[in-house]
Amino acid sequence: PTAPGGSPLEFTTIQPVEHTADEFTVPEGFRWQPVIKWGDKLFSDAPDFDWEDQSAEAQRLQFGYNNDYTEIQEIPHTSGRRAVMFVNHEYTNENIMLPPGTDPEVAARIGMEAHGLSVVELERENADSPYEYVVDADLNRRFVADTRYDFTGPAAGSELLRTADSRRGRHTRGTFGNCSGGLTPWGTLLSGEENFNGYFRTAADSAENKRYGMGAEPTVRGWEDVDPRFDTTNEGYENSAHHFGWIVEVDPWDPESTPRKHTAMGRFKHEGANIIIAEDRHAVAYMGDDEKFDYLYKFVSRKKYVEGNTRHNMQLLEDGDLYVARFSGNSGPMDGSGEVPADGSFDGTGTWIPLVVDGESRVEGMDVDEVLVRTRLAADTVSPTKMDRCEDVQPSLTSRKVYVACTNNDGRGTEGKEGPDEVNPRTVNRDGHVVEIDELGNQSGASFAWNLLLVCGDPEQNDATYFSGFPTEKVSPISCPDNLAFDSVGNLWISTDGAPSTIGFNDGLFRVTLDGKQRGRVEQFASVPVDAETCGPIVHDQDRTAFVSVQHPGEDGSYEKQTSYWPEFAGTGPKPAVVQILPSTVSFSDVDPETAE
Ligand code: FEO
Ligand code: CA
Ligand code: CA
Ligand code: CA
Repeated sequence: PTAPGGSPLEFTTIQPVEHTADEFTVPEGFRWQPVIKWGDKLFSDAPDFDWEDQSAEAQRLQFGYNNDYTEIQEIPHTSGRRAVMFVNHEYTNENIMLPPGTDPEVAARIGMEAHGLSVVELERENADSPYEYVVDADLNRRFVADTRYDFTGPAAGSELLRTADSRRGRHTRGTFGNCSGGLTPWGTLLSGEENFNGYFRTAADSAENKRYGMGAEPTVRGWEDVDPRFDTTNEGYENSAHHFGWIVEVDPWDPESTPRKHTAMGRFKHEGANIIIAEDRHAVAYMGDDEKFDYLYKFVSRKKYVEGNTRHNMQLLEDGDLYVARFSGNSGPMDGSGEVPADGSFDGTGTWIPLVVDGESRVEGMDVDEVLVRTRLAADTVSPTKMDRCEDVQPSLTSRKVYVACTNNDGRGTEGKEGPDEVNPRTVNRDGHVVEIDELGNQSGASFAWNLLLVCGDPEQNDATYFSGFPTEKVSPISCPDNLAFDSVGNLWISTDGAPSTIGFNDGLFRVTLDGKQRGRVEQFASVPVDAETCGPIVHDQDRTAFVSVQHPGEDGSYEKQTSYWPEFAGTGPKPAVVQILPSTVSFSDVDPETAE
């Protein structure tokens, strides 16, 4: 038997794992090991991680917390032995990281430095052996709370971005709440600033602050007591929250480069951004705003992609058109049950509604910089479709179709809220669904067709699930799709976040067949420990290996009563980590050179 599409990655589906299990599970014939963990030092002058003696200074030189988006690129001319890994660090769980009684300012400073990004080089003996990270490698870099970022695009230099620390509104410091991301065709990394709102205390309830989920209450982490920029009521910092909520672009190949925040791609709770080069050579980015009832966006670069011209291509995201999606279904009103409509599919057509075209605002009463800074408010005026939390939005480079992970929305159809529609068909959608978009041969165009690939859940527990017609008794249960990836032949891989609270199993990594008779077949490949989410999947199926970021293991515990000790089981507490899964055959390093052939 061969894997779907002829992929060399054959495996026997694992059974779902109970949500209390503090274990990482892979199929028979595979093993796993951490590549890097929270607190591992990137530089030899960093102290070794010590649970009882943490500091902000140490954390600046160590791998950050809550690894989310992860990407690995081989370093050319190293015969596949070296690679550069990019990882973002979404947030911190101080409740399980720090001993009780830690001074609040010290805790805040450690927390700030544990956010951000990491670039770190990896090394392996050969293609069958596991990767290990390299201390002090040339490309190693931590992006911390005071790392400089330059703004690009129409809102750079706008009054809306000026603060006491950035008088011209052209740069900022730090990145927080980074969630997913994407690899560009020119080798840079994109990362989405998602729940930035949680780091700011703001003035009383302006329409803008409400729409972005900010208010006058103290924040959970209390950074506003340590650094004035986290309180927008401080004089000179009224615009400081405008410095976050962007797509960040990082060049991992140049450790001296200044990362950039691209205002042309709009400001909202960016899950991430993924790029495909359109038939007309414009770069197209797909982006989700991860909030219940928020929107799906598309960016089309003004300039065209030029193969091999990295310097040119690195400007593509600085200037372009921004659209928001409106879907229509073809089956009439939905009853909210999630049952398949009479025509046999959830499907229809859609339109990309322009917000910015040729550098000009298309929104009445808003200048272009305001559309880009207050993108949610701008989009609200053009009636886009309110979605069930768009997480990763990823185009397949094999088929050019675009997949949207709508993770869940328990508010759908509840009192005072938007009811079901064909693209979000389930009332109280706790398990989520996956939309497939077909741009009809014009990736940069304004209209598309769509259908639902999956309406997720455990068929044994849910009345209505849908796997594109594949028999529901033959699939792995799956809930709360979050991050997406493709293998070398175009199979879709989905990692989940939230299954413990919906179907009672730990989150995991799943392969989905997209083509042929098996379309809609879901097979579970890995399961993560208690309270953890599965992030940043990378599937190198030609090497029969995959990587996942295990984020927030044991997050519902406390320092003194941990629920997880993964992956070290040293009696201290859990550590988020990037994990490699690989065949459990003998690795090169295990072979005695004397007896090897
Ligand atoms: Fe940070 Fe949308 O998940
Ligand atoms: Ca997360
Ligand atoms: Ca239909
Ligand atoms: Ca996510």
